[in-house]
Amino acid sequence: MSKARYFEAVPAIDVEEFRKVVMSRRSIRRFDPSPLPDDVLNDCLDMALLAPNSSNLQPWEFHVVRTEALRKQLAVACLNQNAARTAQVLVVVVARTETWQEHCDLMLESWPEETVPRIVDNYYRKLARIHYRQGPLNLFGWGKRAVAAIAGLRRPMPRGPFSQADMNVWAVKTVALAAENFMLALRAHGFDSCPMEGFDEHRVRKVIELPRDGLVAMIIACGKRASDGVYHPRIRFARERFVKEY
Ligand SMILES: Cc1cc2nc3c(=O)[nH]c(=O)nc-3n(C[C@H](O)[C@H](O)[C@H](O)COP(=O)(O)O)c2cc1C
Repeated sequence: MSKARYFEAVPAIDVEEFRKVVMSRRSIRRFDPSPLPDDVLNDCLDMALLAPNSSNLQPWEFHVVRTEALRKQLAVACLNQNAARTAQVLVVVVARTETWQEHCDLMLESWPEETVPRIVDNYYRKLARIHYRQGPLNLFGWGKRAVAAIAGLRRPMPRGPFSQADMNVWAVKTVALAAENFMLALRAHGFDSCPMEGFDEHRVRKVIELPRDGLVAMIIACGKRASDGVYHPRIRFARERFVKEY
């Protein structure tokens, strides 16, 4: 007998409310001194953690810096940008490239049904461990690259990740989606953000303790926008430049 399929109810959504959130999110370069309540911040972090992510391996970490002393030090590491200097909270968004194995185990342990489907079990026990493993000196990665090149002549094959650089892209790509969830959630709560890649990672690591395999994808300045917090009207190039239809 085939297993009953899972069904999840979908709430009604007002697209205009969503549009307001998207349209009013701007990169804020100056925040006013009003505090960002913990419950708002925590709700936004929870929504960030719901972002889609590669193989559900959740290679992210959010390091929340609230205390003034640490914020000041972090702002210096953020090249003293106004957004960092005036933010009420700074969130260091980190991409991990070495948690995937532990998270494969967690996926099997956390499966929300009585039995883990065979295909899922096979994926997290075997396939994912081949797919994401690169091995010492990247030797396993090179092996996978060779297999993909040869087998790929006859059938579609994954063309990566085959190196640490590929793993970095893999992790950062997913983490950026969580960052966007987080920033949109802040906006929906009436708060604002500025994502920043203008920082000195070496100095960031001196301010907060980060895991060795953690890449700082971005640092998000958070707070309530000051009246002069947006520097100019939004600029986007013509849609035709970016949207290709087939
Ligand atoms: C990954 C990333 C890094 C960014 N780094 C900085 C930064 O260091 N400083 C800054 O003021 N803005 C930074 N920004 C904000 C962009 O400049 C901004 O998103 C862009 O100009 C578009 O403006 P908007 O966000 O208001 O639509 C960054 C944005 C992203 C996505």
